[in-house]
Amino acid sequence: MEKIIIKGGRPLFGEVTISGAKNSAVAILPATILSDGVCVIENIPNISDVTAIIRTLYELGATVKYLNKTTVEIDSRGIRTHIVPYSMTKLCRGSSYFMGAMLSRFHKALIAPPGGCDLGVRPIDLHTKGFKALGATVNTENGMVDLKADKLVGSSIYMDNVSVGATINIMLASVKAEGLTIIENAAKEPHIVDLANFLNSMGADIRGAGTDVIKIHGVEKLAGTNYSIISDQIEAGTYMVAAAATGGDVLVKNVIPKHLESISAKLEEAGAIIEEFDDAIRVRRTGVLQKCDVKTMPHPGFPTDMQPQMVTLLSIANGTSMVTETVFDNRFKYIEYLTRMGAHIKVDGKVAVIEGVDHLTCAPVKAVDLRAGAAMVIAGLIAHGVTEIEDVQHIERGYENFIEKFSCIGADIRLVETTRTAQPDVG
Ligand code: EPZ
Repeated sequence: MEKIIIKGGRPLFGEVTISGAKNSAVAILPATILSDGVCVIENIPNISDVTAIIRTLYELGATVKYLNKTTVEIDSRGIRTHIVPYSMTKLCRGSSYFMGAMLSRFHKALIAPPGGCDLGVRPIDLHTKGFKALGATVNTENGMVDLKADKLVGSSIYMDNVSVGATINIMLASVKAEGLTIIENAAKEPHIVDLANFLNSMGADIRGAGTDVIKIHGVEKLAGTNYSIISDQIEAGTYMVAAAATGGDVLVKNVIPKHLESISAKLEEAGAIIEEFDDAIRVRRTGVLQKCDVKTMPHPGFPTDMQPQMVTLLSIANGTSMVTETVFDNRFKYIEYLTRMGAHIKVDGKVAVIEGVDHLTCAPVKAVDLRAGAAMVIAGLIAHGVTEIEDVQHIERGYENFIEKFSCIGADIRLVETTRTAQPDVG
């Protein structure tokens, strides 16, 4: 077991370089199953969610070769099975994309349920609505999703609510279907556009990604391609919030400022000074943090994946802030640990009311999920004293080399092995 030890109270200063986007990589890698050639994918983040997807492709029969630490060459033509067992899918949410990819390639798929953060109920009814609209039958047996289709025919599909995963899965299932598929009320996240660009680089015909309406004209074949993944919006946002929360001055490099507009806007409202460059963003804060209200929304709104980090910053802001979580129904579990560190936060359904305090104090805490874990790191950075964070594996799922990256900008942070304490001898 490992835990993180952070000695708080030091402002962050310096430069940090952002890695490739986790939520792009976990969609683009399964999409290689649709290619009749070899795909070389660059700017792959070295994080456990992505490694899990790559390992799954390999175990399914793909040829996988790392050309360097962040570039992988994949030839999925060797995959002969349409079955993805729970031992492979339980590792991350992105494994749900094997449904759309396998259905598209084999016109059948038998996929175990995905893993991923426990954020409340995470149904897949919109995914299966799309598969059915394309002509597939959907059955669930022993927890496995069983998809079959004699053929896949384009259709118009209205998304009852915006869903990143369902939008991605329907894109994958329809890209080689006969005719035109229209996804209405589609998700517009940067990783949706990234996947569409990747598929189009292989010869797909996808238009409108990044808008509410995506049109997909099915094509016969998809070739191999060389493609570089965009930088990670949420990793960048996490370092931006950490810089502002600690009262530091950090240049966050290898970013797409447009993807960060809602985060920059909220940080400025809270008193940070933001400077945008072509592929970098500078965040500093010298004055007092000010309260501000936040409502998470699908892109281009404030990202739900930045909610825990922002709540942590607001816990030491001047005044009372309100944060409303509109995307997931249970994404405030981590607040129990912020409270243990002295935060004054009341949660009422989808709303957290945060009464700013002068400072947080150290305490033993846990990472309850990926972004909550990032929030605990920020809390440790701003708290007085030494904070210990357990269940570090959650953070390693989505933040490449975060100990080194935070250390390089002045954090007193380290990872230590913890020996399992033997069960007390109670006679
Ligand atoms: C993706 O999850 C991301 N995961 C999440 O990031 C992110 O929080 C989320 O999108 C929203 O941006 C990956 O990309 C691997 P949704 P996803 O489908 O696709 C409901 C992180 O920290 N819904 O957009 O599962 C759902 O319950 C992770 O990197 C249905 O009701 O999110 C939720 O309330 C955490 N039926 C809402 O829609 C469905 O069929 C949005 O979910 C699908 C979703």
